[in-house]
Amino acid sequence: MCGIVGYIGKQDAFPIIINGLKRLEYRGYDSAGVALLNGSLNIYKCKGKVNDLIQFTKGKKLEGTIGIGHTRWATHGPPNDINAHPHTGKSDKLAIIHNGIIENYAPLKEELIKRGHSFESDTDTEVLIHLIEEVMDKEQVSLEEAVRLALQGVVGAYAILVVGEDNPRKIVAARKSSPLVVGIGEGEFFIASDATPIIEHTRNVVYLNDEEIAVIDLENGLSIKNIQNQDKAPFVQELEWNLEMLEKGGYDHFMLKEIHEQPRSIRDSMRGRLNPAIGNVRLGGIKEYKQKLVNAKRIIIVACGTSWHSGLVGEYLFEDLARIPVEVEYASEFRYRNPIIDEDDVVIAISQSGETADTLAAINLAKSRGATVLGICNVVGSSIARVTHAGAYTHAGPEIGVASTKAFTAQLTILTLMALTAAESRGTLRRSRYMQLLNELENIPEQITAALKLEEQIKYIAQEFKDAPNFLYLGRGYNFPVALEGALKLKEISYIHAEGYPAAEMKHGPIALIDENMPVVVLATNKSAYEKIVSNIQEVKARKGRIIAITHDDDTEIKKLADHVIQIPIVAEPLTPIVSVIPLQLLSYHIALLRDCNVDQPRNLAKSVTVE
Ligand code: G6P
Repeated sequence: MCGIVGYIGKQDAFPIIINGLKRLEYRGYDSAGVALLNGSLNIYKCKGKVNDLIQFTKGKKLEGTIGIGHTRWATHGPPNDINAHPHTGKSDKLAIIHNGIIENYAPLKEELIKRGHSFESDTDTEVLIHLIEEVMDKEQVSLEEAVRLALQGVVGAYAILVVGEDNPRKIVAARKSSPLVVGIGEGEFFIASDATPIIEHTRNVVYLNDEEIAVIDLENGLSIKNIQNQDKAPFVQELEWNLEMLEKGGYDHFMLKEIHEQPRSIRDSMRGRLNPAIGNVRLGGIKEYKQKLVNAKRIIIVACGTSWHSGLVGEYLFEDLARIPVEVEYASEFRYRNPIIDEDDVVIAISQSGETADTLAAINLAKSRGATVLGICNVVGSSIARVTHAGAYTHAGPEIGVASTKAFTAQLTILTLMALTAAESRGTLRRSRYMQLLNELENIPEQITAALKLEEQIKYIAQEFKDAPNFLYLGRGYNFPVALEGALKLKEISYIHAEGYPAAEMKHGPIALIDENMPVVVLATNKSAYEKIVSNIQEVKARKGRIIAITHDDDTEIKKLADHVIQIPIVAEPLTPIVSVIPLQLLSYHIALLRDCNVDQPRNLAKSVTVE
């Protein structure tokens, strides 16, 4: 949430910052701003998207080779010009941009007001810059020391960049619970919330750790200290993503590109990990903790949003294949309800971004109670990837559309690999069944390619239902979490109210909603409960509901009942979600498009939720 970009070097900072902010816009897009240092400090900010900022700055003084920029997702105070970042202190000589929440901003603000400060905005961020400035003046210390001392009194999460008129060759950065990456170029540095604005300039990066303060100075380069004033040696890593991965590649939207990338992204998730010829699954990242997983008394999966839905599929996989009891928890609930966790539990944290604040907090809680925590993350070097004991990256490549698609199927792929490896070691699967699942998993990209070919039919269905005010999604077993995910996709990007339900539960409430205006998407690929699903469809039909059924190629019964039948390739039941979600992703995309919604940047949402 909120995107941060900074540049210090020899080039004009403004275009670099603007391009960077565009890449980070998925993190928030309700207002944007820049501060440029060129002898004096010039600040431009306004409500709206980065394009509005570009319009706003036309004809203005934009020179300067040092600058910081921000794209906001509002927490404290509504989106408007005043609450937009950067914020300044009392003297207007210092500017700050911030991602996170200063939880104790109210008492700090009160104290500052008593000491003669006045505030323009409703933000917590403005309080922090006043505090930094006050420390700097009172203690007569450098900018970085003032940042360090001020942060000692701060409770909450922050990634900040600070520049000052009296420090014309320096940017000070600091982080706690919100990400910051420093890109190291030739005599120039790039700082950002994630690596996407940096890739086009350099592949060498340093991820800041919690409570670290970085000073980037044109003469001395990068130096890092922690908040306790200990020096830290920067650890330079090479980025594995490339620029092409960040472009739309001919598609109208990132979401559509990411939906179509899934055969490739799933292959990347499996690469080097699956070898059906010798019946082998190898997850190098969790090698040292494999026995913990195999012997786990219980698995607890923590996640948010779409990642939570893949966690639910994980529950079916681990229980069905490896016979390990699983609980799936919303990270935000888990952390606040004093859960019972012990040393024999294995916690699996799932997160595309690796930065979700609630998931991070849940991991820290589980670790403090002695559990082993494994991560399934997409973003390499992200906070969750670093705080977990071990993990497996999904390697789906950057996901930029706010609605998660390829990250979901990549997470399912990793969960399947984990469950299969645990099942093999525990001897809970017949060898023939185990081998069948490995072989089918290896071929799943082809089945996805086949499902993607249904797009024309789905466009036609989208046209018919684009004005429906409500949708119901039903599924059983492995398809129940997919029903939840289908409903979430539709809500997120088309703003149509949708609910996902276990098909049999429909009778306990949602059936009251069904009439001739209610589209009901039924996931009906389960062999094990086919007759039951046919009955559920009959129940909807009897109340004149309009059925869109997702069935297998060999279905005979459902096509007689449904208004529309989307036939996907037959795969083994544990692998079904990876394929059955594809038509639902396409349906939500095409409905949103027909309703003229901003598919990649839906209102009020942000891709990386770094506030609790
Ligand atoms: C936000 C995003 C969702 C995502 C969720 C969890 O709500 O809009 O797409 O599923 O956060 O994010 P994570 O990065 O932890 O998977």
